[in-house]
Amino acid sequence: MSRPSRAAVHRSGARELDLTVVEVADPAPGTVLVRMGASGVCGSDRHVLDGDWTLPSPTVMGHEGAGTVEAIGDGVTDVGVGDHVILSWFYPCRRCTACLSGRSYVCMGSRSEECVLPDGSSPLTLDGERVFPYLTVGSMSEYAVVPEAGAILIPREVPFDVASLIGCSIATGFGAVVNDAGVEAGTSAVVVGAGGVGLSIIMALQLVGANPIIAVDLSEEKLEAARALGATHTLTPSADLAERIAAITQGGAAYAFEAIGRVQTIESLPSLIAGGGKAVIVGLPPEDSPVSIDALALAESGKSLIGSNYGSTVPGRDFPRLAALYLAGRLPVDQLISHRIGLDDVNEAFAAMRRGERARSVIIF
Ligand code: APR
Ligand code: ZN
Repeated sequence: MSRPSRAAVHRSGARELDLTVVEVADPAPGTVLVRMGASGVCGSDRHVLDGDWTLPSPTVMGHEGAGTVEAIGDGVTDVGVGDHVILSWFYPCRRCTACLSGRSYVCMGSRSEECVLPDGSSPLTLDGERVFPYLTVGSMSEYAVVPEAGAILIPREVPFDVASLIGCSIATGFGAVVNDAGVEAGTSAVVVGAGGVGLSIIMALQLVGANPIIAVDLSEEKLEAARALGATHTLTPSADLAERIAAITQGGAAYAFEAIGRVQTIESLPSLIAGGGKAVIVGLPPEDSPVSIDALALAESGKSLIGSNYGSTVPGRDFPRLAALYLAGRLPVDQLISHRIGLDDVNEAFAAMRRGERARSVIIF
């Protein structure tokens, strides 16, 4: 059995998505059928449309989704029919040494990047052709089938638009600040790039009490959003950016986050922090983008440059925490949602993102 599902499909080489109907199979053992409530439109989807990353094709796009469990496969115990879930774009295998030591974010058994279920199959077809769910989520579709470990139960009080963003940009931003950087109250931080991910970092910095919080972006619209979420200073990029940040922070920030995925910005990140500070790469650059770093200066000043993928999120631990913070009024995720759109408007949302507009567009099903 299968069901038709209206979806946004990417074919390699295309800059736009086809809005079409795919077939979604019944959930196999260990997997869950989800009726989508909402899906965010994230910068990582744009990377695929712009040909920055190689992926299986064709692909149902979207990896930032939330919805209702419609059916479960044999052996599924974590969630039941009618439960509200956030989808994770990295499903842990729960068996490898990384998972068993609590570091599922570097799981060695997951096949999420191959865009397939644990057994190597895909639940999607289009006119008989195999189609892949992007990062084994494929949330730009009315229905999705995902591994049990990639569907995390959350309270029904959390609206789907908010829940969808918790599944990627919020988890990534919060995790970069809390799990990877370990920012302490009263320390200074700079965030370069204030799109969905950068604004999520700013929200987390505000929550943990960083001060000052400096946002850097080309767009005045984004800087205004940054101020609303807790940025104390907002700057547009300039050749003397490091000096301007040093003046605000008495010699350089304690923490710097790159949330664009741009080689030049990553290369300049260590210059924004003081000796002993931490520079964190959150934005993901195109494939094969080596960066050049002054290793002597880095070593002599005791600075660190670290990578942060998905904020080292452990979905089963972190999504419920983030949902609880939202419900307690301490994580204003709604403020990140600048546009609520229909699935048919998704190409327009990517065009706006390329122009540097919109904090976050969210597709409502
Ligand atoms: N200097 C400062 N800001 C810039 C620059 C620049 N040179 N170039 C782009 N920006 C800003 C844009 O104006 C925009 O606000 O970077 C922001 C990027 O945000 P989005 O396009 O909304 O992307 P987002 O979803 O936040 O993802 C950012 O994180 O997870 C990764 O793959 C993702 O690499 C992507 C990055
Ligand atoms: Zn994302």
